[in-house]
Amino acid sequence: MNNIAILCSGGDVSGMNPALKHFVEYSLQKDLTPYFVYDGYEGLIDNNIKKATYKDVAGIINRGGTKIGSARSQRFMQKEYREIAKKNLNMLNIDMLIVLGGDGSFRGLDIFYKESGIKFCGIPSTIDNDISSTEYCLGVDSALNIIKTSIDSIRDTASSFSRAFVIETMGRDCGFLALVSALTSGAELCLVPEKEYDLKSLEESFKEQIKNGRRYFIAVVAEGIKDESQDIANWFEEKIGIESRVSVLGHIQRGGNPTIYDRLMAYRFINNAIDALLEGKEESIICYTKDGFKYKGIDEVVNTPFVLDPKLLRFLKNI
Ligand code: F6P
Repeated sequence: MNNIAILCSGGDVSGMNPALKHFVEYSLQKDLTPYFVYDGYEGLIDNNIKKATYKDVAGIINRGGTKIGSARSQRFMQKEYREIAKKNLNMLNIDMLIVLGGDGSFRGLDIFYKESGIKFCGIPSTIDNDISSTEYCLGVDSALNIIKTSIDSIRDTASSFSRAFVIETMGRDCGFLALVSALTSGAELCLVPEKEYDLKSLEESFKEQIKNGRRYFIAVVAEGIKDESQDIANWFEEKIGIESRVSVLGHIQRGGNPTIYDRLMAYRFINNAIDALLEGKEESIICYTKDGFKYKGIDEVVNTPFVLDPKLLRFLKNI
């Protein structure tokens, strides 16, 4: 039997646990021996690699986070530690590796493959949805649903008190979470790093809306914009004349019960990843595109800058 390992790297997402469960099931179905690497690349270096069984994945499909831990490893950026990682995998006869992570994790993997020859397949997993070449990253739907529930709750209190709420979403330098959340929650304002904005140009219209009976505003802003969320709240108070509050959603966006969509995507990503390795693909990332799943070379994925879908960005004009 061949040995195959999986690890989670970078920010965890809801959907990693369903992926781990299906990894064990599908590996065994394909006569492979599955291994878990605990705590990302750190576990590769520290030889924290253990055989995985059905028992390890019982009762995790509904849990956010990742049962095997994740990490952002500084040591893996150094060649001496990557050599230790290679030795540890060689000792266990593991020559296939699946990595759930974002583009930072894939960059490390690319170098590791070139040095070690360990075959790998990457599964894009980040709530930021900021990996080029794939339209979907595991965990995004769960994060969007958490944001949706939070904004719906905030709207209740915003309307009761006549206030403006500035709701800050995660996403690093990418405005995807903020944009989709604003569009699907009926926000009055959305600010993302990908689009220049001029608050002054909105002042007349917002003041007019209050005169015409508007009681509250919902503004969804991405954490990566040039201003602090508090600055936007101050603008509402000082220029629009409405009491304001800031709500930073923070890490609640990364946890919670994985949605049906993420459970299904976890299943499909894993199937594709294991199939790719068994078909002899040595260094691919499974990308989800409008034509379905595609295997893309890691060089293409990590070297193509991410661009937020212009068609989606165009909707901003309507807010
Ligand atoms: O990349 C995922 C992410 O949640 C970003 O949206 C956010 O900026 C960052 O990770 C937070 O990192 P940490 O969990 O280290 O605070």
